[in-house]
Amino acid sequence: MTVRIGVIGVGMIGQDHIRRLTQVVTGAQVTAVADVDPARAAEIASAIPGCSAAASGTELIVRDDVDAVLVTSWGPTHEEFVVAAIAAGKPVFCEKPLATTQEACLRIVEAETAFGSRLVQVGFMRRYDEYYRALRNTITDGALGAPLLMHCAHRIGTVAPNFSTEMMVNDAAIHEMDLIRWMFDEEIVEVTAVAARHNPTSKDALRDPLVLLFTTESGVLANVEVLANGGFGYDIRGEVVAQHGVAALPELGQVMVKRAGQLSTPIPGDWRERFLRAYDVEFQEWIDRLTSGQPANGPSSWDGLAATTVADAATESLATGHAAAVSLPEKPALYTS
Ligand SMILES: NC(=O)c1ccc[n+]([C@@H]2O[C@H](COP(=O)([O-])OP(=O)(O)OC[C@H]3O[C@@H](n4cnc5c(N)ncnc54)[C@H](O)[C@@H]3O)[C@@H](O)[C@H]2O)c1
Repeated sequence: MTVRIGVIGVGMIGQDHIRRLTQVVTGAQVTAVADVDPARAAEIASAIPGCSAAASGTELIVRDDVDAVLVTSWGPTHEEFVVAAIAAGKPVFCEKPLATTQEACLRIVEAETAFGSRLVQVGFMRRYDEYYRALRNTITDGALGAPLLMHCAHRIGTVAPNFSTEMMVNDAAIHEMDLIRWMFDEEIVEVTAVAARHNPTSKDALRDPLVLLFTTESGVLANVEVLANGGFGYDIRGEVVAQHGVAALPELGQVMVKRAGQLSTPIPGDWRERFLRAYDVEFQEWIDRLTSGQPANGPSSWDGLAATTVADAATESLATGHAAAVSLPEKPALYTS
């Protein structure tokens, strides 16, 4: 079986996922695209055999030749499309964030809960990265004993001029917010966010770098350094300190060069390069579930709600200078297995 997919929002990552769905993964076909820029939608559709542009995202969702929906439009538009896909009973993959406010995420959770089975998957692709998966397996197999601490770094080479302090939290660090919950299989209950000495490379209004400190339900402390203009490449670090030892993500260089008294290894230029394979695995697993008639089992609406709620608390902490509690509603049974 081939899953016929409609893509809403054909900008940067929408086009990259279309390439992935049409050229990398098996079992998928892109049959419809929509964008608020109709010329862009028409141009993208014309390059894909068997694909046509829809006048809007909501029109695309109800089309007969669309079995499943991929939402890659701007964050504030996600709620409308995800809720419409649930109303149509169609599986929907939504790029992060699920929605930009806790209230909007809750409305999605309520719609899906009322539908009665999982339709939504959120694009937290780090869960599909082989190194993060190996790190998590090291923790869950129990040999290291109880996890106590996690040190993370999210160092970006350069950011666009419009990159804001809020985006440091809800665009960049939201990935760590999800993966810390996933790594330890528990919720984050408190966040403290502080800005370090200002990075002179960054514009004055950008609070760069930030340090975020998370406390989980069992008391694991996880800190994340977010550096917007590191200037040397894209560097993602993760190290778990546990009762009997330490486990960390490896350095990822493909080759080590010894030259002129120096040992060097390449650093990924950006997130696309670092997580290329994770996106491919993420989509292949999503398509495989759909073609075998099973509901999605990747990051859920609940995970999207939790991450957005943690991001809200981090933004609050940054503004007040105090720790902020993460307040989640009771988890519906749909998301407990
Ligand atoms: N998982 C990741 O690592 C990752 C990486 C990059 C982007 N993202 C997420 O993907 C989403 C898109 O990001 P991007 O960088 O591709 O942005 P982008 O601006 O390049 O593309 C967004 C596209 O959506 C279109 N659009 C906006 N509102 C629309 C609407 N109502 N209906 C139809 N089309 C609409 C825009 O015209 C544009 O073509 C964001 O939520 C972003 O956070 C996730």
